[in-house]
Amino acid sequence: MSAGVTVRVPAKVNVQLAVGGARPDGYHDLANVFLAVGLYDEVTVTPADSLTISCTGADADQVPLDRGNLAARAAELLAARHGIEPNVHIHIAKDIPVAGGMAGGSADGAGALLACDTLWGLESPQSALLDICAELGSDVPFSLVGGAALGTGRGERLTVLPVGGDFHWVFAVAYGGLSTPAVYREFDRLNADVAVPAPVASSQLLEALRTGDTSALAGSLVNDLQPAALSLRPSLADTLAAGTAAGALAALVSGSGPTTAFLAKDADAAAGIAEALLASGSCRTARATGAPARGATVIQYSGAVS
Ligand code: C5P
Repeated sequence: MSAGVTVRVPAKVNVQLAVGGARPDGYHDLANVFLAVGLYDEVTVTPADSLTISCTGADADQVPLDRGNLAARAAELLAARHGIEPNVHIHIAKDIPVAGGMAGGSADGAGALLACDTLWGLESPQSALLDICAELGSDVPFSLVGGAALGTGRGERLTVLPVGGDFHWVFAVAYGGLSTPAVYREFDRLNADVAVPAPVASSQLLEALRTGDTSALAGSLVNDLQPAALSLRPSLADTLAAGTAAGALAALVSGSGPTTAFLAKDADAAAGIAEALLASGSCRTARATGAPARGATVIQYSGAVS
């Protein structure tokens, strides 16, 4: 048996995404409340002669298999810090929608990082892994941590948030993806004549998470990128309307989209909303799942046998 490590990493939905004006470096300050949800990618690393990537899953053909993949960059960054070669094969079993606003690429970055750290026996402290995550991208630290967290700065500075119960969600996966930079550019264009206020986390929303109160959470969901995503993809309004008509307590675009997210009263309601969304023809597929989900977790580790 050869050595290999498999890490499971969750997708996220932003239950609050408050976006400030564009910064001189092009990023935007955020008050970004992340919630990890039960859709997962699995990232497996095995020793190899050089760094290679493969991917399976419904959207596999859209996943870059070169150094542009955050999983490859994670292996390279970690190896460079330890003066070793990133000679691993990375396999991504993809279940998170690609370019969907659910941090699928970020999940693979965090997953590969933890998997390589384990395979190479580095035992890096979480703070060191989080530093590398922040270098990889704004959403990557949260993929490592999971649960719920408030991200400030460009979203990478995390404060873990308590969650007092389970929430039931449905995600409608759209046809095709949206580019996150393009959605932020559209946000800037739509707000060109507006003094965009500094982003602030909603105390009502944090309280709804803390107490596990689904109705209160439904009343406080907000995504400042939603108008920009709808402007680039007007048909998302039909998906939002279909889920609302099917009884969702709240509907919003997930992150930069185009996945749309629906909060349901319970698991039965979520199953009904998913069925209605599929029947509406306004999305490619619909998935019901729970939250919060655990962050990146080693689920399989096989040591080398000589
Ligand atoms: O950090 P990450 O590489 O994931 O960001 C992707 C893009 O999203 C950035 O290049 C930028 O255009 C946009 N972005 C932003 N402000 C943030 C996070 C991302 O403008 N806080």
